[in-house]
Amino acid sequence: MMSIKSSPMTNQDTLIQVKNLKTYFRLDEGTVRAVDGADFEIKHGQTIGIVGESGCGKSITARSIMRIVAKPGKIVGGNILFHRKAKEGTAAETIDLTSLDPYGDEIRRIRGAEISMVFQEPMTSLSPVHTIGNQIGEVISLHQRVSPAIARARGIEMLDLVGMPHPNRTIDRYPHELSGGMRQRAMIAMALSCRPSLLIADEPTTALDVTTEAQILSLMRQLQNDFGMAIMFITHNLGVVAQMTQQVVVMYMGKVVESANVDALFYEPRHPYTQALLQSIPRFGKRRERKRLASIKGTVPDPYAIPRGCAFHPRCAQMIRGVCDADAPKMIEVTPGHWVRCVL
Ligand SMILES: Nc1ncnc2c1ncn2[C@@H]1O[C@H](COP(=O)(O)OP(=O)(O)OP(=O)(O)O)[C@@H](O)[C@H]1O
Ligand SMILES: [Mg+2]
Repeated sequence: MMSIKSSPMTNQDTLIQVKNLKTYFRLDEGTVRAVDGADFEIKHGQTIGIVGESGCGKSITARSIMRIVAKPGKIVGGNILFHRKAKEGTAAETIDLTSLDPYGDEIRRIRGAEISMVFQEPMTSLSPVHTIGNQIGEVISLHQRVSPAIARARGIEMLDLVGMPHPNRTIDRYPHELSGGMRQRAMIAMALSCRPSLLIADEPTTALDVTTEAQILSLMRQLQNDFGMAIMFITHNLGVVAQMTQQVVVMYMGKVVESANVDALFYEPRHPYTQALLQSIPRFGKRRERKRLASIKGTVPDPYAIPRGCAFHPRCAQMIRGVCDADAPKMIEVTPGHWVRCVL
């Protein structure tokens, strides 16, 4: 392991660097290239949004970072560099998460403590047969040597912090006794109980009503202020991206096609796919308001048969025959910090 200072490629602020990450599922029918050469980075304390249509590899990217990709999925290439800041008595260091045994001690020490994740459906990370308190207590005592009484007190403190009503009673409840919004709060409390440096939120509010969604989003912003953690926010909802994030990564078929700060992405989108995604946002006050997102022309191709050249070319209004259907475009920096994978 190298120290951050000795690595010329990174500055002090970088928390995670995903480099040419490839996570494939080898199935009898063929290979699904769920993540196929993704590159992006997250700085300490930054909120980054990951957007793209269903199936473009957002969740598998998140699961690759956590090292919880389900079999037969496997990281087959690339690196995920985790830059740990120096703390009392320990030096800063860089760990390549792709090199760790997914069942080993080292990733277990990181997962849930330094990097934690909340899911769209709380029941994927809450156990139905244990009380909220037992589950939060277990996370705390797994990572910190404290007595059960202290773990419980911290659990109540966390529930209070996430705005759970009556935390000292809720802590003894089972998940099924709570509403969707309360379960989501419990999951966030659990994810934050060890003060992670990165919180991955995978569609954390999609299943909630708008009022509860607004509460959870403002809670996450407030907690980020208090804890200074970075958030990787995965969502279909570009309104949420605009409201929550500083930097946005747009994915299409396992690749990053555009990445920029949130203003540049919304006001000067360069990739035809990003432009199409933005056009699909319903405008307020218009008749489309209540409809679902207008979708982009065509459908995402079969994941076994990624098109030659630019993967988006069959759906792209601006495609140039003989160019876009021939060579895969590389990422180009169009203005400082604004990257696009498109020949246009
Ligand atoms: N367990 C699995 N076995 C086989 N293929 C999988 C598995 N999990 C995911 N995939 C495939 O990997 C690709 C990326 O999936 P992923 O879940 O990352 O998409 P996503 O961007 O999170 O989509 P959504 O917005 O619907 O959540 C998809 O083609 C999906 O079908
Ligand atoms: Mg997903």
